[in-house]
Amino acid sequence: MKKYHLIVFGCQMNISDSERLANILEKNKYQSTNEIKKADLVCLIACSVRQMAINRIYGAIKNIKKENPKTKIIVTGCLTKKDKKLIQEKVNLVFSINKISNLANLLKIKGKKLVTGDYLKIKPKYSTFPLAYIPIMTGCNNFCTYCVVPYTRQKEISRPSHEIIKETKDLIKKGYKIIVLLGQNVNSYKSNISFPELLNKISKLPGNFWLTFITSHPKDLSTTLINIMAQKNKVIPYLHLPVQSGDNKILRKMNRHYTINHYKKIIEQARKKIKNLNISTDIIVGFPNETKKEFNNTAKLMRWVKYDMAYVAKYSPRPGTVAEKLNDNVSAQEKNKRWRALTKILEKTALKKNKKYIGKKIDVLIENKKNNHLFGQTRNFKNVKIIYDSIKSTRQPIKIPRIGETIKIKITKAISWGLEGFITK
Ligand code: 5AD
Ligand code: SF4
Repeated sequence: MKKYHLIVFGCQMNISDSERLANILEKNKYQSTNEIKKADLVCLIACSVRQMAINRIYGAIKNIKKENPKTKIIVTGCLTKKDKKLIQEKVNLVFSINKISNLANLLKIKGKKLVTGDYLKIKPKYSTFPLAYIPIMTGCNNFCTYCVVPYTRQKEISRPSHEIIKETKDLIKKGYKIIVLLGQNVNSYKSNISFPELLNKISKLPGNFWLTFITSHPKDLSTTLINIMAQKNKVIPYLHLPVQSGDNKILRKMNRHYTINHYKKIIEQARKKIKNLNISTDIIVGFPNETKKEFNNTAKLMRWVKYDMAYVAKYSPRPGTVAEKLNDNVSAQEKNKRWRALTKILEKTALKKNKKYIGKKIDVLIENKKNNHLFGQTRNFKNVKIIYDSIKSTRQPIKIPRIGETIKIKITKAISWGLEGFITK
């Protein structure tokens, strides 16, 4: 039996891509291996949102060739035309994930060819139990001026709701406990029903599970959606709402179609209606011509929102985008400085919020066991590290919980990026 090895870069969408790829390979008699040395085929799932991510792909290709000169290498995921061309010279095959039919040709897989659009019909080999990613759509029509995704994943295609509901039902039956609906902008889901209706329908399915979604675009997030989040117990209090910048002029240049006032109103409304809401965001510093004053507006917004988490990125010009034509004139040094300033604010606000959990007993869903520790999530998506020793040291031996089980944890410590605690009754 031939062996394959998967290396995934990028976001949850790329994890979902890799799960589809894995299933196709396994259906065609490939077996997964953890070792590059043993692989007949190494698949790299790439992200090209920033140049740094692409550079990592080149680094990985070099390493693979050193470790296993004989293996075939394929690269897929989110790729621009330019990246595809450059990478093609170094590996056996490069294709965008929605052109997965190319894989069939390489592997000489017989039968129906897969074409663009069929991507969502491919069954995945889930890899993140007890959490499952379910893409409800792929592609993006928003064309934010800095972003390659509309070029790498093309136009939005939504999956029929009955397929999503069926997949969710099957996963719940198999014991999955966290269902994450995926899309570049789930709020523009278009099928026989709208996104809030889809969420509502899934939340009514029987079973014991948490339901959430990523990502939402502030221009499309509706009050109806917030109401459903507030009313449906299964929809967990977690909202990832990328703001990108705290300055209206920069937002206009980014083609984001909302103002900071609008964004703040959503946050206010959501916080008012949804208890214990965990809010995270994406921010870009150093967009072309971003002045200190404009940057300070982002810092100000961050202090106002008090995010639980923020993914701060330094602007990186991407081939084919509108912003590529603008002068990338904020120096690397200045970008670093702005990045550090925002990270500092985040560390402070996140820590302050997490400290409120100290001493509390909360439900934690066990996700992972690593290095003698258990790791899990709270209902509002806070990471919790459970100290294993504390399990052993309790006088009455406590049964070590299984992955996928929800248990009560007493929180003893908080850092900016999560909580720590031990099992309690
Ligand atoms: N430079 C820096 N960050 C970017 N992102 C997208 N494109 C770029 C770019 N050219 C960030 C955005 C987006 C996240 C997935 O990646 O913040 O929300
Ligand atoms: Fe990129 Fe904007 Fe689409 Fe998000 S909404 S994937 S940032 S173009």
